[in-house]
Amino acid sequence: MNDLSTQIPRLREAVIQRLVAQAPQPAPLTTSEADALVTRIKALLKAKDAVLVVHFYVDAALQKLAEETGGRVSDSLDMADFGSRHAAKTLVVIGVRFMGETAKILSPEKTVLMPTLQAECSLDLGCPAEDFAAFCDQHPDRTVVVYANTSAAVKARADWIVTSSNALKIVSHLKEQGEKILWAPDRHLGRYIQEQTGADMLLWQGECVVHDEFSAEGLRELLREHPDAEVLVHPESPKAVVQMAHAVGSTSQLIKAASESKADTLIVATDRGIFYKMQQAAPGKKLIAAPTLNRGTCNVCAHCPWMAMNGLQNLLAALENPQGHEVEVDTAIIERARLPIERMLAFSRGQGLVTAQPKD
Ligand code: 13P
Ligand code: SF4
Repeated sequence: MNDLSTQIPRLREAVIQRLVAQAPQPAPLTTSEADALVTRIKALLKAKDAVLVVHFYVDAALQKLAEETGGRVSDSLDMADFGSRHAAKTLVVIGVRFMGETAKILSPEKTVLMPTLQAECSLDLGCPAEDFAAFCDQHPDRTVVVYANTSAAVKARADWIVTSSNALKIVSHLKEQGEKILWAPDRHLGRYIQEQTGADMLLWQGECVVHDEFSAEGLRELLREHPDAEVLVHPESPKAVVQMAHAVGSTSQLIKAASESKADTLIVATDRGIFYKMQQAAPGKKLIAAPTLNRGTCNVCAHCPWMAMNGLQNLLAALENPQGHEVEVDTAIIERARLPIERMLAFSRGQGLVTAQPKD
């Protein structure tokens, strides 16, 4: 990295914070408006041979619609696996852009639609392809392991793609082969994996604006009010928060931990969109969102501003007129990025990691 190495991340953070503030959220709907949209969307899904592939963080109405129409609600690994195996001609990916790009890379022959192509991810934004290529060029002896929350162009530089469901197993496997690792972009997840595996890892310094905001101090206070509660933490959270966890894992692993927990109250350090499926998996348990840093007001308050851009209105718009909703990825990038993603899927299928998802 050059002399600007300390300034550039700060500049990027300023840009990202501006984008967070600008992410437009769908207008609230009355019940009859929502019902009317659902009816039209269901008809169009059938007419267009389309299936919904939905992340746990988006609005509950969208998760419910996927459940009712034979679609899938899951984590980023399972979304990639499900989309690549499904026979539908059109995949409608509801999450953030990297999820749509991964679906297109794995199924270039299919049409991949998203309610909005403007749904970003701060990890993706904080790891521009050109800067990342320069970082890789400086460390040619290292195996490049890239988190799924990145652009297609960054994935095209990777040897392996990982998600938080399989990163521990893949990095352990690489360590056993004697590989030194270049990791990008999430610094908290990278540090967690490094500590758990003891692998030699050089870390890009990106972060998720949602998870980086969870507060260990706030969590300590909340635990004084709920001393018997258990704490479930996504590993994109800061170290001090992860250290207080009873369970650490990907979104699907946290839902599984909630269903298996003996505690009546669970404090959850991840996007609160997950509560829809977590409550189904752990009926009767009290779910509390983990506190965020008190900087006057929280920036994102445990809810990803880009995931929240998805709604019934822009989903219907995508199905009615794909223009401006269709995910496109350059053919040369697809060819290169496909290799590390398929390597990840083959490894994960071999380890049974993609069949262990909670049932929809
Ligand atoms: P999962 O892979 O655990 O679903 O996480 C994706 C994500 O964006 C977390 O912030
Ligand atoms: Fe990206 Fe964080 Fe949003 Fe997940 S929650 S999509 S990591 S910004």
